[in-house]
Amino acid sequence: MKIGIFDSGLGGLAVTQGIVKRLPQYDYLYLGDTKRVPYGNRSQETIHEFLAEALSYLFENDCQLIIIACNTASAEALRKSQQEYLPANYPERRILGVLIPGAEAALEGHGVERVGVLATASTVESGSYERELLRIAPSVTVFQQPAPLLVPLVENDGLKYVEPILADYLAPLKVNGVERLILGCTHYCLLKDQVRRQIDVPVIAQDEIVPDKLADYLTRHPEIETKLSRGGTCDYRVTDLTKSYHQFAQRLTGEQIDLQLTRL
Ligand code: DGL
Repeated sequence: MKIGIFDSGLGGLAVTQGIVKRLPQYDYLYLGDTKRVPYGNRSQETIHEFLAEALSYLFENDCQLIIIACNTASAEALRKSQQEYLPANYPERRILGVLIPGAEAALEGHGVERVGVLATASTVESGSYERELLRIAPSVTVFQQPAPLLVPLVENDGLKYVEPILADYLAPLKVNGVERLILGCTHYCLLKDQVRRQIDVPVIAQDEIVPDKLADYLTRHPEIETKLSRGGTCDYRVTDLTKSYHQFAQRLTGEQIDLQLTRL
């Protein structure tokens, strides 16, 4: 059986690339809901509905374990999917998100008191990062900053316009003296160098932390790991496909990705 990776669009390819490099032996199925991206400004009900369709698709296509690379979907709907959808439909399978690995990485070491989170509007509104951080470290103070302009800039090859916008978003986090910064969106992996140039604190980028966290999870869960097939394949599917999606995928990963059109 495969490892499924779901994102609202193509941003999740950055973390997928990290996972496949770290754990090349397994078979992967990536699903990007390019037809309905972005999820970042949508309601909780809508995100939940879209995510349930994506999960069904991936489970029907032989995934034992699904990683929800999309922060917005993880923030809004992961818990409900784990608690309601999974036991009712696929009790032997698993769904993992990216928020807890990010929160854990931000709090590594001793005495971290102020953590910043840069994310989509919907992720910020959900309060999910704050909840996870406080669950691990009840005394931490969390400063969240919605950054709605960053996803469209990354998607439309607008990185050259990013610096002043980023400076604007980072300013309140700097004023509040954050000691760690979580990049809480798939697309921000692409901006990590610019962010690191602008803020002098450890920056948590998901493509750097999720692969190790997944490897660790699989070591701790042999009942899941032993069900995974080891063909070393990666199948990339999207719900809408144009030339510009191919170009974006290549810009994002530096590789020729063979995107295939599918229907949910
Ligand atoms: N994948 C989303 C996330 O990580 C960003 C794009 C979107 O808004 O759908 O939050």
